[in-house]
Amino acid sequence: MGEGLEQIKGEAIEALENINEQTDLEAWKVKYLGRSSAIMGVFKSLGTLSKEDKPIVGKNANLVKVALEKALAQKDDLLNQHAIYQSLEEEKIDVTLPGRKTASGSLHPTTQTLREIYRVFGDMGFQIYRSQEVESDMYNFQLLNFPLHHPARDMQDTFFLKSSQDRGEDPLLLRTHTSPGQIHAMREHTSKYPEDPPPIRIILPGMCYRYEQITARSEIQFNQVEGLAIGKGITFGDLKGTLSNFARRMFGQDAKTRFRASHFPFTEPSAEMDVGCFLCGGEGCSVCKGAGWLEILGCGMVHPTVLENGGFDPEVYSGFAFGMGSERITMTRHHIEDIRYFWANDLRFLDQF
Ligand code: DAH
Repeated sequence: MGEGLEQIKGEAIEALENINEQTDLEAWKVKYLGRSSAIMGVFKSLGTLSKEDKPIVGKNANLVKVALEKALAQKDDLLNQHAIYQSLEEEKIDVTLPGRKTASGSLHPTTQTLREIYRVFGDMGFQIYRSQEVESDMYNFQLLNFPLHHPARDMQDTFFLKSSQDRGEDPLLLRTHTSPGQIHAMREHTSKYPEDPPPIRIILPGMCYRYEQITARSEIQFNQVEGLAIGKGITFGDLKGTLSNFARRMFGQDAKTRFRASHFPFTEPSAEMDVGCFLCGGEGCSVCKGAGWLEILGCGMVHPTVLENGGFDPEVYSGFAFGMGSERITMTRHHIEDIRYFWANDLRFLDQF
């Protein structure tokens, strides 16, 4: 019987040594320690033994059983440890990989241009004046010398607020340009200084709206920067000097400018300012459509009627005004061919600035 137990133990230990998987360990346990295992058979047969043999065999069988259980536990530990090592090896983190950069935003190209415009005019002593985006027909048109039914209104169709029209009031609308801010600023100034008002030098930036067909060249909303200078003895020469200086600071010291006669109801005389095409240097190309020049703003001497509407005596005061689209300026500087990129929120576009 002693030999039998040794054999049982030897076989079981040998089988255990060959095991490399947890699942095989379960099967081993059933086979060598389970109910129908050889060792359990020995316990079951104790009753058939003599009184002398019974305790000895019982004790030895128990020793074998304990030894097998211990060997099983050790093997179990070993396999577990092995599994841990293996997973550490396989799931190792490669700390030499470069980290992923967190995306950081940047200023919208129009905002960048606007800030530069503010800086250039700021250096020339202009202050920023903010005025509202919802205007009345009176301010957006009439006080700027666009009478009702004036043909110049056709160029600036906009979005009207229906309720105010229904009430028969001066219709409210989304401003088509920043020019109505001129009237607000002048009136605020002349009511603050009813006698001999000091000069005004301001720029008025902000969003404008037009009921337009959206194309590569026109959007239904865009930013403008208006400028206004009023004082005694201001001439067209001041206008040219100020705007030419602006163009050089914005587009480079070599920037060429030219003024072309134009028409706006609120200025007289009126002009448009062009800068020499940055791409072809004036020879004519696809960007300037062969002209060699790019139009960047409208300007002129403030019309006497507008001065009067603002509370200034046109016999004593004169001034100049100008208005530019900052998306247009950005397009000119960065060679952007489609204005629709500005509001499309496409990171492939925005990331370039
Ligand atoms: N308000 C004009 C427009 O949107 C631009 C403009 C032209 C503004 C001449 C001015 C100016 O102040 O003097 O088309």
